[in-house]
Amino acid sequence: MTTFVSAPGGSRHLLSLREATRDSLEALLIRAQAFAEGHYDHRALAGTAVCTLFFEPSTRTRLSFQLAVQQLGAHVLSFDASTSSTTKGETALDTLKNIEAMGVRGFVVRHRDDGAVAELAAHVRPGTCLVNAGDGRSAHPTQGLLDMLTLRQAKGNDFSRLRVAIVGDIKHSRVARSDVQALRALGAGEIRAVGPASLLPDDGTLDGCIVGHDLDAALDGVDAVMMLRLQRERMEEGLVDSLEDYHRDYGLTVARLKRAAPDAVVMHPGPMNRGVEITDEVADGPQSLILTQVANGVAVRMAVLETLLKG
Ligand code: CP
Repeated sequence: MTTFVSAPGGSRHLLSLREATRDSLEALLIRAQAFAEGHYDHRALAGTAVCTLFFEPSTRTRLSFQLAVQQLGAHVLSFDASTSSTTKGETALDTLKNIEAMGVRGFVVRHRDDGAVAELAAHVRPGTCLVNAGDGRSAHPTQGLLDMLTLRQAKGNDFSRLRVAIVGDIKHSRVARSDVQALRALGAGEIRAVGPASLLPDDGTLDGCIVGHDLDAALDGVDAVMMLRLQRERMEEGLVDSLEDYHRDYGLTVARLKRAAPDAVVMHPGPMNRGVEITDEVADGPQSLILTQVANGVAVRMAVLETLLKG
C-alpha cells in the first residue's frame, strides 16, 4: 500500500499516513522539495476545480491548500460552513455531492469526527479525489508530510540517525499520529513521546516509541523537538490541572532546550499557545522552524494535489 488510497473508477485519496511506505513518502517529499524551489508547471492543473471543504476552523491548512491550488493553475472554491446550508441541517455528504455536481474534482476536507473523510470518500464519483485536512484526532497527513519535509531539509535524508521528541497532548492530536506514522515509515532512529499520563494514548499510536513523562529527560540529546498545542478544552475535562502546572512540567523554555543537541530544531504545527507549551523566546528563536513548516505546507500540498489530480 502506498500513501495514496486508490478507489474504484480512478479516484485516489490521501486519507492518512498509516500505510505509507518509505518509498512513497520519499517520492512525495522529493516532489515537494522541487515545488519549494519553484520548479513546477504553473498550469499543471488548469481547468480543474478544487474545493476546500472545512467543517472545522483552520488558518494554515486551508489557506496553504488554496494557494497551492492557485499556483497549479486550478480554480479554488472555499466552502465556509458558518455561512453554508449546513446551518439549515444539510449533511456533509449532501454538501459534498452538490459541490461535486458543479464539476469539482478535488476536495480538501476537515471534519471534527474520526473517519469522516474516509466515509465521504466512499461515496464520491469515479475520478473525484479527497485529501484529509484533519479528521477528529485520527489523521492530518499533509501536516505529517510537511513536518517530514522540514526535518529532511534541516537534517538530511537519513532519518535513521534522528532522535525526535514529540511533546504534549499526543492523545488528542491528529498531527502527532501522522507524524509518528511518517517518522516510523522513514526509519527515524528514536521517537520519544512525552507528556502527562492523562494526555498520552494507549491505543497503539505510540508502539515503537520511547514513552515517558519527564520532559527534561526526554530532551537529552534530541535532534528535533516537535511541540504540540495544549488543547485548552482538555482542562475542562480535568486532564490538565492548570496552565501554570502544564507550563512548569511540559513548557519548552530556552533553558530546557539546552538539553537537546546544540543544533536541535524546534517545530510546532500551530496554532501555538505562547507561554503555555512554548515560550516566545523558543518559538521566535534561532532553532525554531515553525514558519518554515508553514512555508513547506504550500509545497507539500502542491505535490499532493498534483499527484492526485494530474493523472
Ligand atoms: N496546523 C494546522 O492544522 O493549523 P490550522 O488548524 O490553522 O490549519
